[in-house]
Amino acid sequence: MNEIQLTEVSKKLKSIIRSVPNFPKDGIVFRDITTLLKDKEAFKLAVDTFYQKYKDIKIDKVVSVESRGFIFGSILAYLLGAGFVPIRKPGKLPAEKIRQEYQLEYGTDAMEVHADAIKPGEKVLVHDDLLATGGTVSAACKLIERLGGEVVGICFLIELSFLNGRERLKNYDIFSIIQYN
Ligand code: PRP
Ligand code: ADE
Repeated sequence: MNEIQLTEVSKKLKSIIRSVPNFPKDGIVFRDITTLLKDKEAFKLAVDTFYQKYKDIKIDKVVSVESRGFIFGSILAYLLGAGFVPIRKPGKLPAEKIRQEYQLEYGTDAMEVHADAIKPGEKVLVHDDLLATGGTVSAACKLIERLGGEVVGICFLIELSFLNGRERLKNYDIFSIIQYN
């Protein structure tokens, strides 16, 4: 897909995302992707756009972050012929795991991944629905690298550019379909 096509896709998908002011607290404009997910054409267009971007790259695992990251992450893993690895909020994974603390646009949290989820040297594509401050995905990358995985790309449906999350992830190859300035 060339730049012009990507701009068209971005415009179309952006027009379908619902913006909810003051959720979950005052001053946050929440970008609600459920309006895109329920639209079969928009949903397919988003999936196809991610697939086109990564279809020729060797990827062993797609790693996504609970919970909205799982929506596109598992589909992408299937389409790319890769395994899927969930990164989850604390206390959800049953077996031996490692933990990383991180900061959100609104609060702090931690996340965990199973210690046997990624083998050293595996090539990993990271996906989350939205890039805000970059805290979540930066912690996800740390977990992957602690297990010896190589992050070959990071993709988002939405990037909140004004929060400069990209700066925090500057050592990685970032792709976002939609940007809010
Ligand atoms: C949202 C979003 C990203 C994260 C982005 O998740 O889905 O994972 O925030 O923020 P950051 O770039 O500042 O770290 P949230 O914690 O709201 O959880 P959810 O996916 O379960 O709704
Ligand atoms: N996660 C962090 N910031 C968000 C926002 N503004 N909209 C939706 N999800 C988010």
